[in-house]
Amino acid sequence: MSKDIIDELVEGLKTTSTRIFRNREILHPEYIPDDLPHRENEIRRLAEILVVALKGERPSNVLLYGLTGTGKTAVARYVVKRLIEKANSIGAKIEEGYVNTRKLDTTYRVVSAIASSIGLRVPPTGLAISEVYRRYINALDNWGGTHIVILDEIDYYVRREGDDLLYKLVRINEELKNSRVALIGITNDINFVESLDPRVRSSLGEVEIVFPPYNAEQLFDILKQRAEKAFYPGVIEDGVISFCAALAAREHGDARRALDLLRVAGEIAEREKSPRVTIEHVKKANIELEEGRVHQSIITLPFHQKAVLRAIVEITRSKGTATTGEVYLKYSELVKNLGFEPLTQRRVSEIINQLDMLGLINATVTSRGRYGVTKIIKVKPELAKTIEELLKDLK
Ligand SMILES: Nc1ncnc2c1ncn2[C@@H]1O[C@H](COP(=O)(O)OP(=O)(O)OP(=O)(O)O)[C@@H](O)[C@H]1O
Ligand SMILES: [Mg+2]
Repeated sequence: MSKDIIDELVEGLKTTSTRIFRNREILHPEYIPDDLPHRENEIRRLAEILVVALKGERPSNVLLYGLTGTGKTAVARYVVKRLIEKANSIGAKIEEGYVNTRKLDTTYRVVSAIASSIGLRVPPTGLAISEVYRRYINALDNWGGTHIVILDEIDYYVRREGDDLLYKLVRINEELKNSRVALIGITNDINFVESLDPRVRSSLGEVEIVFPPYNAEQLFDILKQRAEKAFYPGVIEDGVISFCAALAAREHGDARRALDLLRVAGEIAEREKSPRVTIEHVKKANIELEEGRVHQSIITLPFHQKAVLRAIVEITRSKGTATTGEVYLKYSELVKNLGFEPLTQRRVSEIINQLDMLGLINATVTSRGRYGVTKIIKVKPELAKTIEELLKDLK
């Protein structure tokens, strides 16, 4: 019996996947396209800075920032890739050291990843970080080239591990004779840029390039170019691409979101064995992505945030809305029952603001006349069930 199901699914794979996607990989967020429309200025500026590496000079360090999905990672990797191709063709030595510091969670792993990108072998544990660093410097000097180190999503790293490593890296060239290191720092958090130690900021951001969000027309061009390679001709119905672009433009012009919409719409069409991707599929994709996002943001909340959210759900389930005071009482009760100490009312009030910013609840301030102001808190109705389900056991 189960064999029949598998056979049927495999048959389905054969017939449908060949009809919709020619190459699904092209819509993958990590795929670097050969052409990045509407980023000509950013590409040019970055290339102008880095090109001196071909003459063996040290390029300035660069800080790239802009909202999520504005093409920072894609542009950095694209320019460095092209530069390395050029270097290889003229016999210059340039290597890329790309590190996504959100994914590598310790300084040891970050330094090892940088060092291994010029071929140094570093054991996964066991050495002191200073020793790995020293080996990296020696290896660099023996190699004698320009190492372009891309520190992506660098705000995550610094928030976790502090800025010691950055401080070291921005001064690394003082220790090198035959080699050079150029840093490209990338972040989508403007507050992080502002909060950097001024010395680190001025050395890391010798040049700063700000990536503006895309508008709907620009997203349309980006999607169109990727869709032509990713899907079979004629599979995408008219209006689908502009609809994805319009939805993503509403979300501050996030190209990743636009690509996700198109990819998931294609996957839904495939599942439904539809010969075409339609606007209906995009609408469904939008709901699926939204659910995924909400799910993710709830399950990754820290404990006290979860407890506050759960308190809000419990109160509003019976009476529709809640005030800050009621939430605080309920929250304290929940937390104490689990054997923890509640946070102060002020912290809980901040958490309520954060939950509001995450889009999980609505909190509006209303005046109570001479009693001052209070917040009227509601759970977004479409989320109430999901939240309740996910927070059944607080952990
Ligand atoms: N101009 C463009 N042309 C084609 N694809 C693009 C363009 N800009 C962005 N993309 C694509 O959109 C997706 C998101 O871009 P990217 O990863 O570079 O964003 P980001 O600015 O680094 O975002 P985050 O801050 O979230 O890391 C990637 O798949 C990328 O290839
Ligand atoms: Mg990025």
